[in-house]
Amino acid sequence: MKKLYIETVGCQMNVLDSELVVASLRKQGFELTDNTSDADTILFNTCSVRQHAEDKIYSALGRLKNAKVTHPHKIIGVLGCMAQKDQRLIFERAPYVDLIVGPGQLHQVPDLIAEIEAGGGQKMEVSLGRKEGTRQQIERSHESFDPLRDAAMRPTPYQAYVRIMIGCDKFCTYCIVPSVRGPEQSRHPDDIIAETRQLADEGCKEIILLGQTVNSYRYREGDRVTRLSDLLTSLHGIDGLERIKFVTNYPKDMTDDLLQVVHDLPKCAKYLHVPVQSGSNRVLERMKRGYTVEDYREMMDRIRHLVPEAAVTSDFIVGFCGETEDDFQLTCKLVHEQRFKNSFIFKYSERPGTKGAELFPDDVPEDVKKRRNNELLAMQNMISEVDNHAFLGRNVSVLVEGPSKASEKSDDPDALQLQLTGRTMCDRIVVFDGNRRQIGQTLPITIYDANAHTLFGAVVTQHVGPELFSLNA
Ligand code: 5AD
Ligand code: SF4
Repeated sequence: MKKLYIETVGCQMNVLDSELVVASLRKQGFELTDNTSDADTILFNTCSVRQHAEDKIYSALGRLKNAKVTHPHKIIGVLGCMAQKDQRLIFERAPYVDLIVGPGQLHQVPDLIAEIEAGGGQKMEVSLGRKEGTRQQIERSHESFDPLRDAAMRPTPYQAYVRIMIGCDKFCTYCIVPSVRGPEQSRHPDDIIAETRQLADEGCKEIILLGQTVNSYRYREGDRVTRLSDLLTSLHGIDGLERIKFVTNYPKDMTDDLLQVVHDLPKCAKYLHVPVQSGSNRVLERMKRGYTVEDYREMMDRIRHLVPEAAVTSDFIVGFCGETEDDFQLTCKLVHEQRFKNSFIFKYSERPGTKGAELFPDDVPEDVKKRRNNELLAMQNMISEVDNHAFLGRNVSVLVEGPSKASEKSDDPDALQLQLTGRTMCDRIVVFDGNRRQIGQTLPITIYDANAHTLFGAVVTQHVGPELFSLNA
């Protein structure tokens, strides 16, 4: 058996891509290892969304330089968004890298590794850039790579990602995604339904539908158009499936029919990730997000009206080009007013090749970005903590995912009694004491404590009366 080490950074799309790459390499006789020293092939599935993610990969590659000198037959590969963005530059910066494969070419990884093993030298396969052909040619050069699933690669066998679209056409000025992941293309609904059915047959209870702008999903066949609301309705009928989530939503495409379906279908998680990015119209305009703060507020009102129990989460970028203190205060005001369940907050990182990098100087100093990041995070944490306290004493339904982080670190990894973690229907993390056999079950849990990130609870046990055991019966 050959050994494969794979490290994944970035978004859920990358996690899914790695799962699929591993599945295809297992068929070629690879098994996984968790250290680079005994690996025959080392792969990095990379992210380009911020500079920091790229720096981490280049340093990891740097650390492998000596390994390649002592073990020249080790194959080192860079996959994913940074491979597509930097292309040959990776060979220049790390000449001992053997393989570069963009996210639209991952289906070629097994053949490329076989060619390198046979002495074929360095290989690179990337897709066309957004200006390197007709729309159709560029679309064809970004292939969705979805049919093989490998339950062993997933964090839990009860949950799986299902890609419903690839690429993005929104071209927000800060974002590298449209150039590295190519044009927006929705998958055929029949393929999505077949894949989900297979996952449910294998015991998967929760699926998370993935797309950069998942609610822009649209598949046209003749005059029949399938939208996300239609897809959810079809997936809802699949036996064995208990929960359906979808990320990430684009505010302008959050239509009433979708919200109504989320409300009406019991298997749809009451959880919506709809990044607003900024609370200032001036900044949103520079970001070319295509909506105003007023539009976003109007959308939030519709969510609250149509899906009152929904938890909404957001992303924010602080320190975008030209962001003033007043702009930042408008963002704070929005966070204060909308009470998101949680927010992911990022310092703006200029991405070469984006409109933002071309048009505007990255003029907010690093220390200001850092302070705004910390301030916004502190405000969000306070809100999350207060809102989580509202759960004290309540019963929630939790899909148990596995051992909590604390018990994973404990001395006895095989202990039957341990601390478990899972999530509610509105995506809140719940930690409780249980036993290994409860992993994968959906359990009623009473909440007795909470902080900003976690609810703590105990399994509701049904009281078994003595009459059941009466010997006189
Ligand atoms: N700098 C900082 N954050 C970014 N994001 C996307 N591009 C950048 C960038 N250049 C953030 C956005 C997006 C999330 C996935 O990453 O908030 O929603
Ligand atoms: Fe990037 Fe904007 Fe597309 Fe999201 S919608 S992937 S932020 S370009």
